[in-house]
Amino acid sequence: MAGEPAILYRGKRYPVKVGEDVLSQLLMAGADIQYLCMGGSCGTCRVTVVSGSEHVDPMDPGEHYHIPGDGPDRLACQMICRATGDVAITQRGRGEPLR
Ligand code: FES
Repeated sequence: MAGEPAILYRGKRYPVKVGEDVLSQLLMAGADIQYLCMGGSCGTCRVTVVSGSEHVDPMDPGEHYHIPGDGPDRLACQMICRATGDVAITQRGRGEPLR
């Protein structure tokens, strides 16, 4: 981790706000990320957590309905940041995270 906790996405660092979801924070910062409903029902914001999954809240049952199992994928609109460290994500077709 370098400096303040951040979301690492498409080669950039986006500062993290505790208690806010990843999608909202990326959109507010002008990031290019796919989404539709912002409510956990469409699955369009699905991302893969490359590292730092311990720095976001675990899935709730509603998110598990869309993403069964314990793999690295999450819904960015349902992934709440703890701001305890960096979270690196990637979205299919949207480039690689900053390492
Ligand atoms: S934007 Fe629809 S589930 Fe996240």
